[in-house]
Amino acid sequence: MNDKQSVALAAAKHVKSGMLVGLGTGSTANYFIAELARRQREEALKITTVASSVTSAMYAHSLQLPSIAIEQLSTIDLYVDGADEYTSDKCLLKGRGSDLVKEKLLAQAAKTFIAVAEASKRVDYLGQKFAIPIEVLPNAWQLAKRSLEALGGVGELRPNTNKDGLWVTSHGSLVLDMQFQGSHDAVALNQAINNVPGVVEHGIFCGLCDALLIAENGKVSEHWA
Ligand code: A5P
Repeated sequence: MNDKQSVALAAAKHVKSGMLVGLGTGSTANYFIAELARRQREEALKITTVASSVTSAMYAHSLQLPSIAIEQLSTIDLYVDGADEYTSDKCLLKGRGSDLVKEKLLAQAAKTFIAVAEASKRVDYLGQKFAIPIEVLPNAWQLAKRSLEALGGVGELRPNTNKDGLWVTSHGSLVLDMQFQGSHDAVALNQAINNVPGVVEHGIFCGLCDALLIAENGKVSEHWA
């Protein structure tokens, strides 16, 4: 079992019958979804799920997990999702995929948000390894980019996989991948980016996570708030 799977299985232990459970997106979240399906099959676990992406919705559906749409809820019991980076104060960088809008909505709506990651994703400050993904309205990208540059950001629109066009998110937004050299205060940066007109959402998740489950060499440690 690899570390992604170990940490996903540890998170799945927190799921109880009767819960409405938010499903994250990514390879770690997929292990979590598979484990919920196993528990439904073998332990008669009774849950309803809500997915943060089309990919996760399709995977959950293929495993016969009951689901509802995000439009139908105002709160959920538990949300479990991976991250690209995490800091010791439980700030996360997310959104290297295209689904950070729903991911943040579910993280915010959850009574409990458990983030799951391998220890190698630990950083001293967000943005240390990856640029910060910032979803922008297509017709506002240039104005938003200028405002983000005024905050110290440097970056470009994300190209599509074939590098012959632009990356478009599941919400029809474009993505500016921005680096903020010397701006290591994620809470302040989070607020500053929130205030930029034209920004739909971005990948800094601060103050949202109740627990961080970290896997290293097959061992999982739980860090609750
Ligand atoms: C999806 O948009 C991301 O935030 C993922 O949660 C993150 O990239 C972690 O992915 P892995 O679990 O595949 O490492």
